[in-house]
Amino acid sequence: MIESFIVTNIGELVTFDKNNMVVYHDVEMIIKNGVVKKIGKNIDSPEFEKVDADGKLVTPGFVDPHTHPVFNETRELEYEMRVMGKSYMEIAESGGGIRSSVRSLRSANLEELKIKVKKRLDGFLQYGTTTIEAKSGYGLSKESELNSLLLLKELAQNHPLDIKTTFLGAHEYPDEYRDDHEKYIEILINEMIPQVVREGLADYCDVFCEEGVFSVDESRRVLEAAKFLGLGLRLHAGEFKPIGGAQLAAKLGAFSADHLVAISDEGISALKEGNVVPVLLPATTFFLGSDKYAPGRKMWDAGLPVAVATDFNPGSSMTQSMPFVITLACLKLKLTPMEALQAATINAAKSLRMEKIVGSLEKGKQADFVIWKFNRYQGIPYYLAFQSIRQVWKKGVNVWESCDN
Ligand code: NIG
Ligand code: FE
Repeated sequence: MIESFIVTNIGELVTFDKNNMVVYHDVEMIIKNGVVKKIGKNIDSPEFEKVDADGKLVTPGFVDPHTHPVFNETRELEYEMRVMGKSYMEIAESGGGIRSSVRSLRSANLEELKIKVKKRLDGFLQYGTTTIEAKSGYGLSKESELNSLLLLKELAQNHPLDIKTTFLGAHEYPDEYRDDHEKYIEILINEMIPQVVREGLADYCDVFCEEGVFSVDESRRVLEAAKFLGLGLRLHAGEFKPIGGAQLAAKLGAFSADHLVAISDEGISALKEGNVVPVLLPATTFFLGSDKYAPGRKMWDAGLPVAVATDFNPGSSMTQSMPFVITLACLKLKLTPMEALQAATINAAKSLRMEKIVGSLEKGKQADFVIWKFNRYQGIPYYLAFQSIRQVWKKGVNVWESCDN
């Protein structure tokens, strides 16, 4: 394990300076104690060990700002039902969807669950992801939500990924409160959120604000309680219907509003005014077999710092691949490869308020980077579903390596 070294023979290095992409050619990068020290040409540094990038592309590690890795069983039978014509919401209303994952998680053995989640965390590394946001939300009881967050916190202690955690107790109404929403909201506000905060289990609070799930007013009450106790806010908004989640995110000063497939023009203006980062999830739209993608181009042109994420979850997005998300961001959200890469790194870091430490390769920031098998950044969206990563480095440590290096 070496944490101070020089990466030599970098064919192309892509990073971001404020909002602009910077592309260097034929450079070297000095890493000291896990932090970027210097990027330049012909650096004279005989004292450093060398890592040879072999003329290939180097980029910042990806930041995936929206994932749901704490689930028990997968849901491929539901996937089959969808392929055969049932919609995501129809499946949810008939007791499948999130609620079936809740029943499964509640009956899981915690030690076995921990092993499954650990493997999923490992899975992110092979796609070049070095920082994630991870949500609870398949427990929906005090005990099970707290266990989900605790499990993430415990795994985070010994995992190379930087993992920020989000309390998503308001992901759905659990079966036992189907007919008493008010009671569940009271439990969220008066019991779960205070305990999550007391035990330091979450950085953010999120709500699934959608027709048939949490209304704008219900979402507001939950998020206000979380904000009052110091949590950052995120919001699943406008995945299917534009009920005003984006406006709510802006009003409450949320860090991000996510999905936004069904965002209105007023919603876009509100995000701009409220300084909210839109986190778009094109792999979810793809996985649900829909043709209606979030208006990424429009949001980018409106001056919003558009970010992208996998939304990795067992129901609507069974992928951990940010390169695949970048391909979709180009083809379906109509971002350029350069913009899509920015959305997957520095803008994603902004949505987590981590842009000072991750998301770009600059002096003083963490040495989180990927060495690719090709030599220009356009290759990232271009090589669709290839295994095109050579090495992944986190804080100056080589945490993943391709076997056909
Ligand atoms: O972001 N939309 C709500 N939550 C997840 C789906 C969760 C599930 O189906 O299990 C999402 O797509
Ligand atoms: Fe989600």
